[in-house]
Amino acid sequence: MTPRLECAELTTGYFTERPCVRGVSLTLEEGELVCLLGPNGAGKTTLLLSMAGLIPRFSGGLRVDGVDIKNGQPRAAVRGGLVLVSDDRALFRKLSVEQNLRLAVRERAERGPGVERVLDYFPALRKRLRIDAGRLSGGEQQMLAIGRAIIQRPKVLLIDELSMGLAPVIVEEILPVLRTIAELDRTSIVLVEQHVHVALRVADRAAVIVHGEIVLEDSAATLLANPERVERAYLGEGLVSSQSN
Ligand SMILES: Nc1ncnc2c1ncn2[C@@H]1O[C@H](COP(=O)(O)OP(=O)(O)OP(=O)(O)O)[C@@H](O)[C@H]1O
Ligand SMILES: [Mg+2]
Repeated sequence: MTPRLECAELTTGYFTERPCVRGVSLTLEEGELVCLLGPNGAGKTTLLLSMAGLIPRFSGGLRVDGVDIKNGQPRAAVRGGLVLVSDDRALFRKLSVEQNLRLAVRERAERGPGVERVLDYFPALRKRLRIDAGRLSGGEQQMLAIGRAIIQRPKVLLIDELSMGLAPVIVEEILPVLRTIAELDRTSIVLVEQHVHVALRVADRAAVIVHGEIVLEDSAATLLANPERVERAYLGEGLVSSQSN
């Protein structure tokens, strides 16, 4: 069966002579949730930006459902089904929650599951529909950012630093929703997450990227049972655990 996402030997970065993501291959099946782990500066954000067409690939291929995604073209990536939730969450802060969602619907009205579906996934937003996005709590903003993304009915959702600035209880609330989105909508998800144990509990598989290369990839269950393998992969990062972040 054709994989949902095929990232093949992708090399990218900010200077062609010095790529900071080198030869990364990552394959996701439909509805699969893969977490991308790795120390600061490893290239996680750069990889997601490149998959979303925001920075060009120097070499390597990217396919969604077997269809080539044009290089370095954000709109082509979205049309191809790749939607990024960036670590800055990119909300319209002066617009209400509802307006933020409706604007996202407009971009993909014919396919989107609609505002109601988002509110079913994130009931906390229902009470906040008329509030400006800029006045939401960090957790609510993250819910809205994910909501805006899923309304576009992605085939592959790319989420950068989901838990940045959020209290652990909020992260624990949002992560299982991603699991549900993957299962019910059959959306494949690449989740960049610093909290290793939390991420492994929700993911099917994990890949660890260090200095721009994938150094370890295995099922989340296997890695949860052998955390020392993840720790060793982090090369010189010391003990890696959900407590260390
Ligand atoms: N806009 C930029 N211009 C030049 N170099 C950059 C830029 N953004 C990131 N880099 C460099 O690219 C490398 C990879 O950075 P990247 O942001 O992808 O890492 P990351 O794994 O997302 O790290 P973090 O966990 O801190 O978010 C780093 O060496 C970083 O300094
Ligand atoms: Mg990053």
